[in-house]
Amino acid sequence: MTIVPHGGKLVDRELQGKVREEAEAKAKRLLTLALSEREVCDLEMIAVGAVSPLEGFMTEEDYESCLERKRLVNGLPWTIPITKSISGEEKSKITKEKETALRDERGHLLAILEVSDIFPHDKKRQALTVYGTDDETHPGVAQVNRMGDFFVGGRISLFSRPKHKDFLDHRLDPRETRAVFERKKWKSVVAFQTRNPIHRAHEYLTKCALETVDGLLIHPLMGETKSDDVPAHVRWACYTTLIDKYYPKDRVVLSIFPASMRYAGPREAVWHAICRKNYGCTHFIVGRDHAGCNRPDGTPYYGSYEAQEIFDEFSPEEIGIEIYRFEHSFFDRRTGGIVSHKTAPAEAEPLSVSGTKLREMLRTGEMPPPEITRPEVAKILIEAMKENARE
Ligand code: ADX
Repeated sequence: MTIVPHGGKLVDRELQGKVREEAEAKAKRLLTLALSEREVCDLEMIAVGAVSPLEGFMTEEDYESCLERKRLVNGLPWTIPITKSISGEEKSKITKEKETALRDERGHLLAILEVSDIFPHDKKRQALTVYGTDDETHPGVAQVNRMGDFFVGGRISLFSRPKHKDFLDHRLDPRETRAVFERKKWKSVVAFQTRNPIHRAHEYLTKCALETVDGLLIHPLMGETKSDDVPAHVRWACYTTLIDKYYPKDRVVLSIFPASMRYAGPREAVWHAICRKNYGCTHFIVGRDHAGCNRPDGTPYYGSYEAQEIFDEFSPEEIGIEIYRFEHSFFDRRTGGIVSHKTAPAEAEPLSVSGTKLREMLRTGEMPPPEITRPEVAKILIEAMKENARE
């Protein structure tokens, strides 16, 4: 079974051959706009079809519809704005119906944007609508507040991929993951989104899911994350070590999800699922507090299961990828296994180590209980913390 991309067809906005060369030459003569790290991630995702059916940065119509209806103008579910922001000064230099060039922060020219729309960015409204708060300490809201006061929308044509320094062989595009699944003859594939090392609870979710499908795509998000999230190269070492020893290797594909994290909880969960549909997956895991984050006092911005409940606002057909909802999972000392409240006896004795406590243990070189984190993973994290402290 091939899974249909969102909107029916996989977008391809990456130029090839002579057209590519011509666009690259032309870009040098155009007015240039710099993209932020998040916008570079979005650009690449648009070009390779990861955010199909989008062919460019959102126009005002789609942006408004995404905010107000959680849908694109054409009615397809869409919960996260994919935008290019500009300053007032940049706005005064560009004109609708004209082309501009897009470059990264280091000055590499990447793409041409056909400007079809220029519109104001009401930051407070975006924060309240997408993130449910305008609190500056929310990392997604802080991102929004750093953006320009206007948006420029329009179709893009990519002539040069963003220059990645690492994991070059592990950045499969949607076309490539689809080809891998086909080669492996997988009819059903569950995708696992993560921005963390895989701890025992994560492992449990992925393995429960794997019991019911042909393959598992471990798809760690490797675009921009918060500064206190574990760095990408450390996480990568954890994933490969874990898969090597604890997973059926022939039933797992590990590849990078090149998006930037929004920390938008429920809205981001829907977006994460739709993107994984574009990568060819049939199922998507949404556990407890998916894509959430905490306030400085440690309380979460979103309810534990809000990221699951939001899917009830859409029909399964329009989401088009089956959502595997998981309850909070934990190690139960009484039964000696990982459970959730759905599977644990009433007298369960959870072994719980908070995120803060876990980080503290790793920082001081203390091994966390193996029921929480595999020792091989803990060792990598402890080493990374030591390295970090030395720098
Ligand atoms: S996320 O930002 O990518 O969602 P994380 O990497 O921690 O963060 O989580 C990856 C997935 O595992 C999410 O679907 C999340 O809801 C789920 N998850 C993480 N920890 C647990 C847990 N203890 N119980 C149930 N689900 C969990």
